[in-house]
Amino acid sequence: MVNVIGLGYIGLPTALMMASHGVEVVGTDYNPKVVAMLNAGKTTFKEKGLDELFQRALEKGIRFTEDYQITDTYIVSVPSPYDKFSKKVDACYVVAAVKKVLEVCPENATIIIESTVSPGTIDKHIRPEIKNHNINLVHAPERIIPGNMVYELLHNNRTIGADDKETGDRVAALYASFCQGQIVVTDIRTAEMTKVVENTFRAVNIAFANELAKICRHDNMDVYEIIRICNMHPRVNILQPGPGVGGHCISVDPWFLVGDYPSLAKVIDESMKTNESMPDFVLNRIYEIMKENGLTDISRVGLYGLTYKENVDDMRESPTLQLLESQERHLAPGLKVYDPFITDDVVKNQYHDLDAFLSDVDFVVIMVKHNEIMENMDKLTEKTVLDCFNICDLPGVYHI
Ligand SMILES: NC(=O)c1ccc[n+]([C@@H]2O[C@H](COP(=O)([O-])OP(=O)(O)OC[C@H]3O[C@@H](n4cnc5c(N)ncnc54)[C@H](O)[C@@H]3O)[C@@H](O)[C@H]2O)c1
Repeated sequence: MVNVIGLGYIGLPTALMMASHGVEVVGTDYNPKVVAMLNAGKTTFKEKGLDELFQRALEKGIRFTEDYQITDTYIVSVPSPYDKFSKKVDACYVVAAVKKVLEVCPENATIIIESTVSPGTIDKHIRPEIKNHNINLVHAPERIIPGNMVYELLHNNRTIGADDKETGDRVAALYASFCQGQIVVTDIRTAEMTKVVENTFRAVNIAFANELAKICRHDNMDVYEIIRICNMHPRVNILQPGPGVGGHCISVDPWFLVGDYPSLAKVIDESMKTNESMPDFVLNRIYEIMKENGLTDISRVGLYGLTYKENVDDMRESPTLQLLESQERHLAPGLKVYDPFITDDVVKNQYHDLDAFLSDVDFVVIMVKHNEIMENMDKLTEKTVLDCFNICDLPGVYHI
């Protein structure tokens, strides 16, 4: 039996996927609300295909509890934030979960850490905890993207880091119960580093596009046309600029390298700062465009989208939240905000209906390219629009 510890965005789909493929799974979370909701037959977040997967896993007998189980295999998928000051990974959740596992697990159990950690974290923080136990440690970082998690769990290639080949192969076989991608077995530190490097590659490339957007804005050049033409070169593939980077991976994991290697990770440090500067850059664009159009009332400006990416309900570190914090620092009165995926009230001046939101604003800033706005562009014809993604082809639309 596999005991999955932490039933959030990663742990829950992983537990459901394994269970639906015939593995006996118990999901454990220390948050009683999460466990109660799952036991009441409801998933805890919106994700394409998750409800169907949940039903299949229930039919196969998956259980949810606050208790850690006595078994031979544990998967730990708890948060791994970074310390805002040192930029290093904050391993306290992972360490706490491993300590709890050690209270119940038998000798020779396997503990698989799925949480993203920086290279050396397992040696530094987890090995000292297990030193008096006979435990097989494994690191199996997760690559799935919110919005397409179910498909990617099935099809992505994966990395398994283990201390010995036998353990690595055994865990690879467990993941092969559902994973159709290639499963590479390596050592733990390499697995730790590959996961962080993958997200750092994305962050640096996004930062390059964002920097180009700033350069082009400075001298009135069309960044989208320039990127389009550059990408016709056979060896150039520039990403698109945007209003910033959020979520739990690309805006977090590269900081681990800056924290651990401050004198070496220079490009990474600057890239992260460039991405972090984008919400403020958008706010300055809002003020510029208001001035150009003689608009003086910022409460007639509306931010469309609160999540960190399109068609998901995850708001963590989102550019809109960053912009709103920055707006509060600037002491400007309330921008209006709306997101079809956020049903709770989480920020001031928040709407829950697109038409009501649009009727109260003259200027719309597209912060997230949810399908909803793509399908309702005709409702923006009378508005001033700042389109942060180049998705709106109405005349007179502004860009970052
Ligand atoms: N969200 C993503 O897109 C994504 C993608 C790849 C990797 N990751 C990594 O996966 C890990 C988990 O991220 P997430 O997004 O699923 O986090 P999350 O915050 O959505 O979920 C974590 C869950 O763990 C529970 N938890 C924390 N400590 C616990 C403990 N000691 N015992 C039992 N339950 C505990 C929390 O209650 C929560 O439900 C992180 O390291 C993250 O970096 C996330």
